[in-house]
Amino acid sequence: MSKKESTSTLWGGRFSEATDAFVQRFTASVDFDKRMYRQDIRGSIAHSEMLAKVGVLTEEEKNAIHTGLRDIEAQIDSGEFQWSVELEDVHMNIESALTQKIGIAGKKLHTGRSRNDQVATDVRLYLRDEIDVIAQELTRLQKGILELAEREADTIMPGFTHLQTAQPVTFGHHLLAWYEMLNRDYSRLQDCRRRMNQSPLGAAALAGTTYPIDRELTASLLGFSQPTRNSLDSVSDRDFAIEFCSFAAILLTHLSRASEELILWTSSQFNFINLPDRFCTGSSIMPQKKNPDVPELVRGKTGRVNGHLIALLTLMKSQPLAYNKDNQEDKEPLFDAVDTVRDCLRAFADMIPAIEPKREVMREAAKRGFATATDLADYLVRRGTPFRDAHEIVGKAVGYGVKTGKDLSDMSLEELRQFGGSIDEDVFKVLTLEGSVAARNHIGGTAPEQVRRAVQVARKELSER
Ligand code: ARG
Repeated sequence: MSKKESTSTLWGGRFSEATDAFVQRFTASVDFDKRMYRQDIRGSIAHSEMLAKVGVLTEEEKNAIHTGLRDIEAQIDSGEFQWSVELEDVHMNIESALTQKIGIAGKKLHTGRSRNDQVATDVRLYLRDEIDVIAQELTRLQKGILELAEREADTIMPGFTHLQTAQPVTFGHHLLAWYEMLNRDYSRLQDCRRRMNQSPLGAAALAGTTYPIDRELTASLLGFSQPTRNSLDSVSDRDFAIEFCSFAAILLTHLSRASEELILWTSSQFNFINLPDRFCTGSSIMPQKKNPDVPELVRGKTGRVNGHLIALLTLMKSQPLAYNKDNQEDKEPLFDAVDTVRDCLRAFADMIPAIEPKREVMREAAKRGFATATDLADYLVRRGTPFRDAHEIVGKAVGYGVKTGKDLSDMSLEELRQFGGSIDEDVFKVLTLEGSVAARNHIGGTAPEQVRRAVQVARKELSER
């Protein structure tokens, strides 16, 4: 390891030699934590505002600090700011620039504060900002799903279990299943936001500070619901980042499932939908190919978000109180989870309303595979046959259909009657696809009427967000 003179640190007092150049790079976080500069400046403005209120800073000092910090923010915004690895992280880069700009008052900003409560504050502010953007994007996606679900309330497709044709469902109903998954994700996101929205500022290094600080004030200036209640916990735990990543992992898991279905449906084997060309790419060798890259990538990105969740859980595991440098490792997984969630939601919110269903193909597919077998069994039950016997009778009818290549609705009354039970002409009504879906007319059922009703309920719910 080579040694390098370094005089620029803000903590060099007790050191008799400069930090090793490699160690400096190894311990620095500025390359990635500079993305929190707005939150860092917001936190410093609130902290200095409070210090002035309680008499630790003069009004002039506070004003100089505020003006200086706003100048620095503008410089960073415009790309003029010189970041320095020697100054380790976003916090010391900004503080050092402030002192260069305004002199003594800049050196007073860090009174009653530590980078430990500062970084805990910044990460929360950053994540809260991102959560609000993500919540909007999630809502946009949910609205798109409702729009499509309403349009496709009457569209019939096969419903699957074990990926085998099970019963006819409406496409709108299938889409509303996605909506429900995302609705729980939204509520998990808001839970995470509510729990994390407390201000760690004032916890200082770990034990609090000897200055007469007003933590209620900084909490309210920063839009937190209240100050955190224990200083050791405040600088230490990153459970809020873990919660966010677990929200992200579950959301991506849901999106990966929807992606998988989109991929299947666009295949020539299913051929249920068309994805407009702008969401697809071609093959460099096979001229006929049109690949559903967007859903494939979303499906693939689930892996990286799951990885970030495990990284953060492992980072936190067994850490003794209070702050440890390990926690600097919270940022890259968290930031990447945020970016990935934002991109995937954007891709889905753009893509879903553009889906072009092939209604006739879906309908034809629902007709194959004896999708109305349960309806026939229910019909027999209504006419006095015990369900188990009805199941057996219909099973035999299906066996006959497989052998003769006929769907239940293609069989004559005589053919249907040969297996037992009491069957009349009206059976054909229940064997139609429309009859089958319309009959499941209760809350959560697949009937078009229920789909339209559920869309209205969901719209109202979204309008109240
Ligand atoms: N860059 C550090 C982090 O991300 C800031 C806090 C450092 N505190 C300390 N005492 N070294 O966690």
